[in-house]
Amino acid sequence: MVNYKDLGLVNTREMFKRAVAGGYAIPAFNFNTMEQMQAIVMAAVETKSPVIMQVSKGARNYANGTILRNLAKGAVEYAKELGCEHPEIVLHLDHGDSFELCKECIDNGFSSVMIDGSSLPYEENIALTKKVVDYAHQFDVTVEAELGVLAGVEDEVSSAESHYTKPEEVIDFSTRSGCDSLAISIGTSHGAHKFTPEQCTLVNGVLVPPPLAFDILHEIEKKLPGFPIVLHGSSSVPMDEVNTINKYGGHLEAAIGIPEEQLREASKSAVCKINIDSDSRLAMTAAIRKHLAEHPGDFDPRQYLKPARENMKKMYIHKIVNVLGSDGKLAQC
Ligand code: 13P
Repeated sequence: MVNYKDLGLVNTREMFKRAVAGGYAIPAFNFNTMEQMQAIVMAAVETKSPVIMQVSKGARNYANGTILRNLAKGAVEYAKELGCEHPEIVLHLDHGDSFELCKECIDNGFSSVMIDGSSLPYEENIALTKKVVDYAHQFDVTVEAELGVLAGVEDEVSSAESHYTKPEEVIDFSTRSGCDSLAISIGTSHGAHKFTPEQCTLVNGVLVPPPLAFDILHEIEKKLPGFPIVLHGSSSVPMDEVNTINKYGGHLEAAIGIPEEQLREASKSAVCKINIDSDSRLAMTAAIRKHLAEHPGDFDPRQYLKPARENMKKMYIHKIVNVLGSDGKLAQC
């Protein structure tokens, strides 16, 4: 058994309380590689922001759970080395799909887990979430649950269509499951192709997607005052990264994300955790493609992973400062 507190990690409880009260959101960045971890830590330290580093099932399959856990341990020490004496770093399981997987993560140093029972019938989602909560709380690990279904594909999580969260269910669900935070569905979705061009409106040559269902979010907030709400699928799919990828040999068509103004607005509400994965993938790929096209003789991975890391760090800082507003929000520096 490895307890997260021994690794210098924290759970989400206090940081969510402060974020809801302060009208900002904590960034939850997915990571699979050392370079992503380094970029996340550098960005969080530079902006003095709490941060959630999250690991999906796909990331565990790719990089191995033990390695990712030790990278997160390294992340805390690295943050201190960079001059942040009291970093607030959460190691979170993204989209846990079984009690066994959540237990394995809790037993091995994760400070927060998500149990995603959103594809199950309502009562089964409650029962599974409660089982994870009962286990996790013994070790002071916080639990995120999901109600409503997001469309899109993310690693092994996929759904053809979305079902918005029903506000009339949230009190019963959160009370009976005991979850610490709730991921809701209000129009975001996983991946870099969140909307078809047909769903968007053309404004000044730019495809603008339909707005998020803020009416549902506000109804949920009224029913659960102060309760931490989570938004998945919140990459903005920056056009400059997509254009760079396409300019240097890529072929990404009709990649459309969530406009940042909408995420900025959501951050001011009870939404206190915003998940971003695809934007990091785009930033990394754009920088690597550009570097290799401009330096065809380079073959040392450090030569192209360094600009990739820099580009991801720049993107993370932008999200923290200009979109989520979590800069300067560490309890102690
Ligand atoms: P994006 O694909 O929009 O980055 O969403 C990631 C996510 O929600 C991870 O759970």
